[in-house]
Amino acid sequence: MGYRVLERKELGPDANLLVIKAPYVAKSARPGQFIILRVYEKGERIPLTIVDIDKKRGAITIIFQVVGKTTKYLSLIKVGEEIKDLLGPLGTPTEIRKFGVVATLGGGFGTAVLYPLVKALKEVDNYLIVINGARNEKLLILEDELKELSDEYYVTTDDGSKGVKGFVTDLLQEILEKENKKIDRVFAVGPVPMMKATSELTKKYGIKTIVSLNPVMVDGTGMCGACRVEVDGETKFTCVDGPEFDAHKVNFDLLMRRLRMYNKEERISLNTFRKLKNE
Ligand code: NAD
Ligand code: FES
Repeated sequence: MGYRVLERKELGPDANLLVIKAPYVAKSARPGQFIILRVYEKGERIPLTIVDIDKKRGAITIIFQVVGKTTKYLSLIKVGEEIKDLLGPLGTPTEIRKFGVVATLGGGFGTAVLYPLVKALKEVDNYLIVINGARNEKLLILEDELKELSDEYYVTTDDGSKGVKGFVTDLLQEILEKENKKIDRVFAVGPVPMMKATSELTKKYGIKTIVSLNPVMVDGTGMCGACRVEVDGETKFTCVDGPEFDAHKVNFDLLMRRLRMYNKEERISLNTFRKLKNE
């Protein structure tokens, strides 16, 4: 038995949303957790954040960006078709409570991971500052959804095509320096250099900051070691100890080096798949 796709939507260039029937996952999933799926029998296993849960329908929502062969394959699945395997919910749920003023930063596709956290943080009545950043206007996702949940909503684009020109961290710095705003907690999800920059900034202000890490994963149960990261000088497994960690303790440089290890193989695999599909 597979996992039937109930809905699909294109969110932007190469950004897709799928609602998948997965009653056991929907029953127990909590914000911050993820699934690992395998699209077809011999496919690779990829981790994806559970973006939304519909307990009534027994369904979960995932959002993904087409970056390699597997996500390309996933983007071609139609409503009514099935995904071969789906394992979850995995990972440690986010610590959700009333912190006070919370700033949340979503960099590019990291915004998809940020959305369920924003939703859960709002439900317990935090004052939410949301900064949604992308390279340009076309790459911004979940704008309406985040705007609705925010007390203060900002957009940044690298090229200035929408909102404030610059990085998400530039805006956070402005809020902290110029407006002298007291922020109790920061959540940042996006490319590793963005999470590193956020961490360096908030360290200066002594604001506890949580980041969601995205190393390569294989089994998702703490057995294979593929997802290991260094936190506070110790090796942690992102799939069971994370994916969220205290940013001020993460070795981001090591994570960046490990993420670059498979770039060449991923490019070759995607190009081969595109040739086969005559794209
Ligand atoms: P991107 O490179 O376009 O960057 C998106 C935004 O992040 C930029 O607009 C900017 O505001 C900010 N940013 C980027 N580099 C920065 C820096 N050096 N300093 C401060 N801010 C910076 O991102 P993309 O192309 O959408 O790539 C998405 C990346 O996010 C991929 O590397 C993917 O692996 C990663 N990702 C991470 C998670 C996660 O759980 N952490 C989830 C999904 C995607
Ligand atoms: Fe294998 Fe985490 S994915 S240990």
